[in-house]
Amino acid sequence: MQTLDRTRLAQLMEREQATFVERHPRAGALHARALASLVDGVPMNWMIKWAGAYPLYVDVAAGAHFTDVDGHDYIDFCLGDTGAMAGHGPAPTIAAVERQMRRGITHMLPTEDAIWAGEELTRRFGLPYWQFTLTATDANRFSLRLARLVTGRPLVAVHDRNYHGTVDETFASLEDDGTVIPRRGSIGPQVDPALTTRVVPFNDLEALDRVLMNGKVAAFLIEPALTNVGIVLPDPGYLDGVREITRRHGTILIHDETHTICAGPGGMTALGGFEPDMLVIGKTIGGGIPA
Ligand SMILES: Cc1ncc(COP(=O)(O)O)c(C=O)c1O
Repeated sequence: MQTLDRTRLAQLMEREQATFVERHPRAGALHARALASLVDGVPMNWMIKWAGAYPLYVDVAAGAHFTDVDGHDYIDFCLGDTGAMAGHGPAPTIAAVERQMRRGITHMLPTEDAIWAGEELTRRFGLPYWQFTLTATDANRFSLRLARLVTGRPLVAVHDRNYHGTVDETFASLEDDGTVIPRRGSIGPQVDPALTTRVVPFNDLEALDRVLMNGKVAAFLIEPALTNVGIVLPDPGYLDGVREITRRHGTILIHDETHTICAGPGGMTALGGFEPDMLVIGKTIGGGIPA
């Protein structure tokens, strides 16, 4: 049997780390400065997880590329986790933002644009009524609240290995024996997710039926395909089964299309002709502005 030579692996890693530091002196200096004012030297704590002793610092991004402060050009396969799916700084977005900035951007009153956006979303997804939030996390939280209000039920259900943003109730995983536990790495859960959340393995209709059977689950919040643990596609018929079971148990079905919108202008929902009760989109819907 072949085994990994871990000593050699460690040597190679050390060599790559040294090369990284050598090629990114300016990022290293900025990181040293950032350590004095930012937790772990990063503006958002997960940014410390990039490979390398410290993150790259972006100087400028355009289209599918960015240049770092050390002058290296990169093809950006992250594209802001899809927020910049149409490329960094698309000209139509820049023109529209500049136009609107000059007319005021935060007024606590509606503008006609919002109606156009609502009409366009209805045309794409078939759902009649829309609301706007600043992030997809917020939209998911809002949807779960509405679902609880409408159904009068206390619990929510999600897929195992889900990610729907930093919605506390969704930071839940399944143990092998079926109990619900806080997701690994979840920091200081507000409440024990076992009190708020039921967790269903992806592509398991029988488990879903069992979880919804007691009539206590207000909403089943799902991505039509899991996109945050690699991409896991639904088995043929799974999403139709989800719709049938949720309808039968009076549970509100929420499609989170924040990532899967990349399947087409109406996301996987329009592509498959699905009929969720609510739908959430974020990120790329803002044309390059985080949304
Ligand atoms: C499927 C899904 N929903 C919601 C979110 C939350 O988006 P945001 O961080 O913009 O609130 C994410 C973030 O990656 C996501 O992947």
